[in-house]
Amino acid sequence: MNTGTGTMAAHITSALEEALDQGYTFPATWYTDPAFYTAERQHIFRRCWQYVGLAEQVARPGDFFTCAVGSVPLVIVRDETGELRAFANVCRHRGSQLVLEESGCRKTLQCHYHAWTYNLDGSLRAAPGMKDEPGFDTRAFPLAPVRIEAWGPWLFATPDRAAPPLASLLGELPGLVAATGLDLGTLRRRVRRTYEIAANWKVVVDNYLECYHCPVAHPGFCDLIDLSSYEVREYASFSTQGGQVTAAARAGSAGLYDISQGVREGFYAYLWPNFTLNIYPGPGNVSLNLFLPLAVDRTLAIYDYCFADVVSEREERDFVRFIDQVQEEDIVLCESVQRGLSSGAFDQGRLMLSRERGLRHFQKLVYRSLAEAERER
Ligand code: FES
Ligand SMILES: [Fe+2]
Repeated sequence: MNTGTGTMAAHITSALEEALDQGYTFPATWYTDPAFYTAERQHIFRRCWQYVGLAEQVARPGDFFTCAVGSVPLVIVRDETGELRAFANVCRHRGSQLVLEESGCRKTLQCHYHAWTYNLDGSLRAAPGMKDEPGFDTRAFPLAPVRIEAWGPWLFATPDRAAPPLASLLGELPGLVAATGLDLGTLRRRVRRTYEIAANWKVVVDNYLECYHCPVAHPGFCDLIDLSSYEVREYASFSTQGGQVTAAARAGSAGLYDISQGVREGFYAYLWPNFTLNIYPGPGNVSLNLFLPLAVDRTLAIYDYCFADVVSEREERDFVRFIDQVQEEDIVLCESVQRGLSSGAFDQGRLMLSRERGLRHFQKLVYRSLAEAERER
């Protein structure tokens, strides 16, 4: 196999496509070989819309925060006219990361290296010593703009200037979220948690996409959600899962957080390529998860917990503790899968399609992206 931007052709075969259809998983090398990671960074993470944060983080002119789409560092800023902008967080002087802080409020963006200073619209305002450089034209060195769009309070960006609008990725998803009864306008982020997981990003997504493991691994989740009612639905660029609340939880005897008000069923959505949105039964809540690939065998999971004002601090604490527990349980699972995939003792798995269809849907999206890139070569 060629590495880097080289050919993946040997791995993009009709035999694999057929095997995926029948419920076989990707061969282990897809999760362990850095060549796949490189190809995915280029053909998936440089092209797709990805969740970057919340509009509330850039509410006022001058507010900014830094983030990443795949391996591209970004700075998101509200300029002085109120327009939302995103730029590659890379200085045009010598390529340093421009802004190092996670967030703040500024009148300009100044590089921490030699103090090239940019306006909030990305234009270069001044560079120290520029008067001594004949012909130096600030207009030649603006920050590289990146497309950014909002779905309600949630922001998504893509490095691909030619990507279709965000709405075409979201499809029916906003309507399905609205149908849960959750009022997006009332939500504010109260907690951000990050978890570093020693597993390939696809292992983490795979794990998210099935609840076949829930009875074994997540007793708390099963106290809340009745798995006999659990359903997986597939759409073009996303899939959903969900189920009804157990009778014990409804009666308040399962020892969980208070679910007597608000949303009535669990609704969990995975959006291509690395975002999930989780609405649990109970008063206005959503947790937004981004799975950011850091290396072929390392993924950073970023969880934004948002709540409506009516949710008390105690309810918030109970809720976060509940999800945190599920996440810690999932990390053990994902890291054990990565060890098995790297062992040389395993090639391809076989899904239980009655319960793991969501994985097949996801793996076909990955396959299709790499196959399309291969065809374009
Ligand atoms: S690299 Fe940014 S000012 Fe030199
Ligand atoms: Fe899980």
